Amino acid sequence: MVKKTNDAHDELKQLFQNNREWAQKETDADPQFFARLAGQQAPEYLWIGCSDSRVPANQIVGLLPGELFVHRNIANVVIHTDLNCLSVMQYAVEVLKVKHIIVTGHYNCGGVQAAMQNQQFGLVDNWLRNIRDLYHASADELAQLSNDQEKLNRLCELNVKAQVNNVCHTQIVQNAWARNQELTVHGWIYSLENGLLKDLGVTVNSIEQVHKIYHVAP
Ligand code: CO
Repeated sequence: MVKKTNDAHDELKQLFQNNREWAQKETDADPQFFARLAGQQAPEYLWIGCSDSRVPANQIVGLLPGELFVHRNIANVVIHTDLNCLSVMQYAVEVLKVKHIIVTGHYNCGGVQAAMQNQQFGLVDNWLRNIRDLYHASADELAQLSNDQEKLNRLCELNVKAQVNNVCHTQIVQNAWARNQELTVHGWIYSLENGLLKDLGVTVNSIEQVHKIYHVAP
């Protein structure tokens, strides 16, 4: 009988086994696949999504390694003091020259839900604070909805829209537009229940679509 301490070890061994099988399958399908990828990456898209394990970026949109640059955090937020997210954005836009930044939220997001509750969850409360502010700012609209589930899902959508705006308010994006680099920012939302993405229709691809207060490009 295997002791409990070994169970975890065996589980992780399974991951290495999975990895070897995956690498072999890819190599069988395309012998140059890894050699080509090791040489360079040229993704056209930056995905900013939630860390939720049920929202795996590449799989949802059917893209291979090398085709999607990815940043994920709890509740897919773009905060102007977050050096991690901003560094990813700057590299994606200025070096990789991605053509699209896609902010993808998802319905039933636990992060958004936490920001709606009158209780503490710890450090993450600070991370989610601007979603609570958005909840406050959207209180009138959300009050029109009949139940908590609808309110949560609407706030998930409003959060995507707010983060699209945050992306567009960065110097990174505005400088790209100022030098006529093609760059479009999208807001999408994913349903855990049916696996489908929805475009929220908040696409921005020029400075004219950004409120003048936020114009910062030279
Ligand atoms: Co989430």
